[in-house]
Amino acid sequence: MAASSRIIVIDHASWDAAPGMDAAPSPAAELEEGKVLYFPRLRFELTDAETALLDPSLVDPKRKNISLNAVTGKLTGVAVEDERRDAIGALVRRYYETTRRFLDRLLPHYAAHLHAPTTSLRLHRIGTWKMSWRKDDSRLHVDAFPSRPVGQQRILRVFNNINPHGDARRWRVGESFETLSARYLPQIPPYRPGVAWLLHKLHVTKSRRSAYDHIMLQLHDRMKADADYQRNGPQESIDFPPGSTWICFSDQTPHAAMTGQFMLEQTYLLPVSAMENPERSPQRVLERQLASA
Ligand code: SIN
Ligand code: FE
Repeated sequence: MAASSRIIVIDHASWDAAPGMDAAPSPAAELEEGKVLYFPRLRFELTDAETALLDPSLVDPKRKNISLNAVTGKLTGVAVEDERRDAIGALVRRYYETTRRFLDRLLPHYAAHLHAPTTSLRLHRIGTWKMSWRKDDSRLHVDAFPSRPVGQQRILRVFNNINPHGDARRWRVGESFETLSARYLPQIPPYRPGVAWLLHKLHVTKSRRSAYDHIMLQLHDRMKADADYQRNGPQESIDFPPGSTWICFSDQTPHAAMTGQFMLEQTYLLPVSAMENPERSPQRVLERQLASA
């Protein structure tokens, strides 16, 4: 890893303990700088019966992924109604519980504030699920949800490659959020509260889209549509092998998933106010950049 890499390698193999990291900055501080915490040896072990569930035909053809809302227990995206459905539910829930335990140790200051968990099982090989450019996550982007505005919440994600055949998940990781947003902010049309109100009334969005959500969606779309930025923008490539885990604030860290198949992913929302340094959030960065524009 080059000295300027935005990927922090942590040699740690247990979900039940915090990594021994005496050196500052803390894991939370690294995440808040937009870094990716990469644990090459933090494996999520599957049983043979679970490995047999790694089959894309088990995903509802209308959905990209299988997902679990661990709070309501609602499992969506499973194409079958037999005992495999329960086995998938149990696997996804076990990932939720395992990563939760780990985050409580890794990021103790966040623990009481992490909420809205969504767990996802991604069975399709990257590139085989047909989609529009806007949904194409092999283009560098920051995460922004079109129908679920986040407002003053951060998006924290824990990824694990569970490929049983040795295939790495290849990502690209981009520049700092400040330089990214400064690059695109001048092109972004102003927020229109009336439009946000209407989208909510029409149930296009689950709540009112804030000015922040508007900018983040624009940023997401504009960087994905920018072929020159995709090719020549600041970025590094990294292979996450099977048996590895990586964590980032995906609303802040530009990322693109290039190759690979079979992954578990845990999402949480975190209030900006629960960060070690809220000034590092995309919300505050954009406020400062807009104020000085
Ligand atoms: C993404 O979150 O953009 C995709 C991550 C992945 O599929 O590896
Ligand atoms: Fe993404």
